[in-house]
Amino acid sequence: MKVLGIETSCDETAAAVVEDGTRILSSQIASQVEIHARYGGIVPEVASRQHLLAIIPILQQAMAEAGVSWGDVDGIAVTIGPGLAGSLLVGVNMAKALALAHGIPITGVNHLEGHIYANWLINRRVNFPVVCLIVSGGHSDLVLMKGHGDYVVLGRTRDDAAGEAFDKAARILGLGYPGGPAIQEAARWGTASLKLPRAWLKGNSDFSFSGVKTALLRLVEGGKVSSGADGATSFQEAVIDVLVTKTVAVAKEHRVKQILLAGGVASNSLLRHWLVENSPIPVLVPEPVLCTDNAAMIAACGYYRFQAGKVDGLDLDVVPSLRLA
Ligand code: KG4
Ligand code: ZN
Repeated sequence: MKVLGIETSCDETAAAVVEDGTRILSSQIASQVEIHARYGGIVPEVASRQHLLAIIPILQQAMAEAGVSWGDVDGIAVTIGPGLAGSLLVGVNMAKALALAHGIPITGVNHLEGHIYANWLINRRVNFPVVCLIVSGGHSDLVLMKGHGDYVVLGRTRDDAAGEAFDKAARILGLGYPGGPAIQEAARWGTASLKLPRAWLKGNSDFSFSGVKTALLRLVEGGKVSSGADGATSFQEAVIDVLVTKTVAVAKEHRVKQILLAGGVASNSLLRHWLVENSPIPVLVPEPVLCTDNAAMIAACGYYRFQAGKVDGLDLDVVPSLRLA
C-alpha cells in the first residue's frame, strides 16, 4: 500500500510517499527556517502563507521522486494537529482536495504519533511494549505504547518543552535560531563548567525545564558566563541528563522491550549517544532528518491507521491542540 503523507503543522512544508508503512519512496521538505530566523521564532501568519506557496511544488516533487501517479496512491495521510491552525489548514485542505479529485481515502494523523512512527522507517523491528520519549519544540512526553495506536502518557513537561528550552537558552547565549542545532554546535567547543540545576521531580515521570533556563539567564545577567560554548555545553548536559535518566527509569519500571526516541530534539547527538550508552534496554533512534518534521513519518503512521480501518470523511478538520491520549 502506497501512502502519500502531507505535513504542514509548523514551519516545514513536507510531502512523502511511503510503501507499507516502512519503505520511503520519496520525502520532500521545504523549510521556512531562514525566514523565521529573522524574527527569532515562528511568525504564524508568515508560516501559513509560506505553506500556501510551497505545498504544490513540494507535492509534485514528492510524486516525481517516488515515480508514482495519482492512480498508484492508495491513501492520503495528513497532519491535523497539534500545531498552528493556519498552517495545518493548508495541508488538510490540500489533502481533502486531492482525495476528492482522485477518489483516494484520507486519514488524519496526530503529529506526535507521526514522530513516533519515524521509528518504523528504520531498518530495525519494533517490539511492543515500548516506551517513547517524544521531545520536540512543543512537547516532551514519555509514552507507553503497547500496540499500534495504543498510547498511555506516563509523563509530560510541566512548563517548557525540551526543544523550546533549547531555543530559549540559545537566545540567552546569543547563539541564534533554531536553538537546538546552535547549542549542539557551540557545545562542541565548551566544557560543562556552569553549575545548572536538574529538576528531577522525584516520584513521577514529568519534566520541567524552565528552572534550568532561568538559572542560565541569571548567570548570564550576572556576568558569570564568559564563554558561550561553556554555557551551551552546561545547558545541553543538564537537559539531557534528566531526559536520559527519567526515560531509562520509566522503561525499566514498565519492563518494556525497547525505547523509541522521537521529535526534533532526538536529532541531538549527545542525547542519542547518552541514551544508548546508559540504557540496558535496546534503543531505536531514527536518523536526524527523520526526527525533525517530515512527511514520511506521517505517511508511516497513516499506513497503520488505514490498516486499522481508521478512514476519515471529507469533513476532516484541524485540531490545533490535539493530544496523544
Ligand atoms: O519536531 P520538531 O522538528 O518540530 C516540532 O514538532 O516542534 O522539533 C523542533 C525542535 C526545535 O525546538 C529545535 O531547536 C529542536 O527541535 N532541535 C534540536 C536539535 N535539532 C532540532 N534540539 C537539540 N539538538 C538538536 N540537534
Ligand atoms: Zn514535530
